[in-house]
This record gives sequence, C-alpha cells and structure tokens, in this order.
Amino acid sequence: MQRLDDLFDDVAATARPHAKRGRVADYIPALAGADPDRFGLAMAGLDGQENATGDADVGFPIQSLSKLFALVLAMQRLGSERGVSEEIWQRVGREPSGDPFNSLVQLEHERGIPRNPMINAGALVIADLLLEHCSDPIESLLELLGELAGEAVAIDESVAAAEEATSQRNRAMGHLMAAFGNLNHPLDAVLDVYNRQCAITMTARQLARASRFLADDGIDPASGREILSGPLARRVMAVMLTCGTYDAAGDFAFSVGLPCKSGVAGGILAVAPDHSGICVWSPPLDAAGNSVAGRVALHELAERLGLSIF
Ligand code: DON
Repeated sequence: MQRLDDLFDDVAATARPHAKRGRVADYIPALAGADPDRFGLAMAGLDGQENATGDADVGFPIQSLSKLFALVLAMQRLGSERGVSEEIWQRVGREPSGDPFNSLVQLEHERGIPRNPMINAGALVIADLLLEHCSDPIESLLELLGELAGEAVAIDESVAAAEEATSQRNRAMGHLMAAFGNLNHPLDAVLDVYNRQCAITMTARQLARASRFLADDGIDPASGREILSGPLARRVMAVMLTCGTYDAAGDFAFSVGLPCKSGVAGGILAVAPDHSGICVWSPPLDAAGNSVAGRVALHELAERLGLSIF
C-alpha cells in the first residue's frame, strides 16, 4: 500500500496544475499579491497523526473559514440546542443561497433574514450575536482557534484595514438587516468583528487541527475537551455540507462528499467524520469563489482514502 506521505505528494502533484484555471482574489492588495503557485495540504487525524505537503506551514488569511468558527463560538456561548434554536435559527436560516457570498438580493425578499451563516449577511448576524455574548468577540475567537490549533494565532492588521476600506457591500447588507430589525448592535461594531475575523492568519496545518473536533463528535481529541455537543457538531457539519462552498455546495457534495468551508484567500476546510480535519490552500479561485486546485485536491484525497460520507 502507498505510504500516506507519498499519497499526499501525489495528490498535490495532481491538483497543483489546476490552479492555472483560477484567479486570485484581487479586491485588496494583500490578496491580489498572493503567490498563485502556493499550495499546502494538511490532515490532522483523530489519533494525533498529521500528514502535510507543500506550503502547509505558511500562514494565509482565513477569510470566510472564520464564519465556521464564529458559528461554533456562538453555539458554545448559547450552550444548549434550545438556546441555539431560539437565538441563531430565528435570525439566520440554513438553506443554500444559490447566490454569490456577498449578494444583497435575497435579503430584501426575505425580510432581512440571511439564508445561512456561511454567507456574508449570515456572518454579520453571528457577529452581532457574539457582541451580545462575549465581552470581546475577537479575543474569544482567537482564544478558541489558538486552543484548537495548539498554537497562538493572530490578526494581520493590514488585511483587517483593507477589509474595512472595501466593506461597502457588507455595510449595505448590515443597514438592510438593521432596517428589518435583525441587528442589535451598531453596524460599525458588527463590521469590525467581521472584518477582523476575516483577517486572522493561520496555516493549513493549524486549520486542519482546528476543524478536527467536528470529526470527533464535538470533542477536541488533543485535549479531550467538549467544544460542542455531538448534536450541535453534526448541525455545523450539515450547514458546511449544504452552504459552505456557496453556489458550488452541490458540486462539492457530489465530487468530494465531505462537509467543507471555503474562503477567498484560497483555503478550504473539510471534515472527514470519525477520521480527520483537513485543510488545503491554493489562492486561485473559480467563479464561485472556491480554490480550484483545492477542490481537486480534496476530491483526490477523499477518493483515494475512501473518505466520502456517502
Ligand atoms: O466580506 C468580504 O468581502 C470578504 N472578506 C470575503 C470573505 C470570504 O472569504 C468570502 N468567501 N469566499
């Protein structure tokens, strides 16, 4: 049988050339300047084993991957399934949007209730909730990520400032939701949380570790601590599977078969239940905003290791 390290190198060699078909996000200089040839892949197993290849220890802005951990933090603060139902699912849905992650159109038709927490409008509602339940939401998020990654993580202030300077669409969404009564805090405070969470820098290896608790029914295998209850961890994975890769969620379920979450810096997280947390990073994106080579790598890895949940 092929050694796992060789298999990882093989997957990387197959996936890397596909990056040429994508385009690096260019709305801020920090992302526009990303090297399109960067490629990192890491897997953190429940047994503590780690496999990695390429640039798995190079940091990048987690961007929308933060939406997953912000949701986890909100669930932690609300505690029970009942609290989560009352405070989260009354204010944000869990249906795929079928629209780009920064689209405004559905919000008007659907009276300020975002389709799900994995798109920008939904993440703004979660940021609003965090302001209610954490004295310093970003500190709490950094603490949670540091605990899960096993290493301290930090914000790239230049990315945070650039997010703020280009936040017009998110600001428009915020105003619309506030008009419908779905934001309780001043919009500037909500946007500050959102912009800063997008600017957290992590490596593929750290992110693979950070998502591993979902594969273990909510328990972080490194510490044995319950991060979320089993039922809540399964809810998070359901939302990832159906909404985590935007308008390509159906295609990801079809070709990868794992709950995934992507970000515009080219990171994609995947969870293989009872097996591992996985993260791939390659900056060039497809039209839906997902890393092109990242998707190929996850497809190859899931196929070769038989990880699909289906
Ligand atoms: O809200 C924004 O404009 C960006 N920070 C987008 C973050 C992100 O990764 C969205 N999706 N891929």
